[in-house]
Amino acid sequence: MHYTERMGRVIAVTNLKGGIGKTTTVVNLSAGLALKGARVLLVDVDPQGNLSMALGVSARRTLYNVLVEDAQVADCITSARPNLDLLAADAALLVAQPELAQRPNWSRLVEQAIRPVRSAYDFIIIDCGGSLTVLNLNALHAASDIVVPTTVEPFSLKGLSMLVEQLVRVKGSASSLRAIVPTLYDPRTRQAVELLDQLRATYGNLITEPIRVNVRLSEASAQGQTIYEFDPRSRGAADYARLVEQLSAWWAFTVPTPIVAATESDPTPATPAQTPPEHARPVVAGIGSPETLTCPHCGKGLQRATVAGYRVTYCNQCHYRRQELISGPRR
Ligand SMILES: Nc1ncnc2c1ncn2[C@@H]1O[C@H](COP(=O)(O)OP(=O)(O)O)[C@@H](O)[C@H]1O
Ligand SMILES: [Mg+2]
Repeated sequence: MHYTERMGRVIAVTNLKGGIGKTTTVVNLSAGLALKGARVLLVDVDPQGNLSMALGVSARRTLYNVLVEDAQVADCITSARPNLDLLAADAALLVAQPELAQRPNWSRLVEQAIRPVRSAYDFIIIDCGGSLTVLNLNALHAASDIVVPTTVEPFSLKGLSMLVEQLVRVKGSASSLRAIVPTLYDPRTRQAVELLDQLRATYGNLITEPIRVNVRLSEASAQGQTIYEFDPRSRGAADYARLVEQLSAWWAFTVPTPIVAATESDPTPATPAQTPPEHARPVVAGIGSPETLTCPHCGKGLQRATVAGYRVTYCNQCHYRRQELISGPRR
């Protein structure tokens, strides 16, 4: 089976603040893209190494070995899930940063480190820490696209404008800013709803659909699982799956079509396969407000999503949620 060449888009997920859902977004965006059939490499440049924990993998070798010991990057990548690989971080990177900062090409170290494997992936997604460290600046330099999760709080707008200033300073312009993802969003508070409107008024089409507050998301990372594994029926799973669909569309990502080679019993020349492979299914299907479905609690239109094998029908206005398993029990 042959696949078309992969584009190797490099995405830095960043914000100057910590604790606002960067790692959660990296894990569940990447896992969703991988479920759709994309080949994804995660790169952790935060010495806290949260990505390994959130994915429940222990990496024998990390970015430290690549940057400090000149190890081959391909030898330091750990497989985390099907289609999902990880170049992990560890605490040694914290100590190494002052030395890395002395090197003449200090700002291009991560870009150089991932170059040999770039064409093997559709997406390389870098999880940044919460400040402008040497490694975070490296991530910004390496990135073709910047994705910024942000909480929906009174100071979020100020934080975003500071980040945009930094992007202009580091990259010469903010044109690589591709998406702003509202996280920890609580649609029950009027303040959050108003602030989301303000964000949309300021940043327009860069603002994605929000990720609502959902405790299942933190429980999932504590268990080392993605939200689709831990609770595919949760609001967190529905929201992240919807984000995966939205960003896939923005990035015009479609699963490379496998070419079916001719066999002796079927001498038809190689043609693109007619049926998409199982993994090409959307993580979310049929998002929308079907007119026939209204919420039994508040009467608003219901949303529908298909998440990792479940059909989820939910209300954006209140807590109502219903889910049915589409096919067979999950493991
Ligand atoms: N939508 C959400 N709802 C509830 N908890 C969340 C949500 N997103 C993130 N969290 C939790 O908030 C904390 C900080 O999130 P994390 O992704 O680690 O942020 P960052 O990487 O920006 O420091 C974690 O405990 C995480 O599980
Ligand atoms: Mg983090």
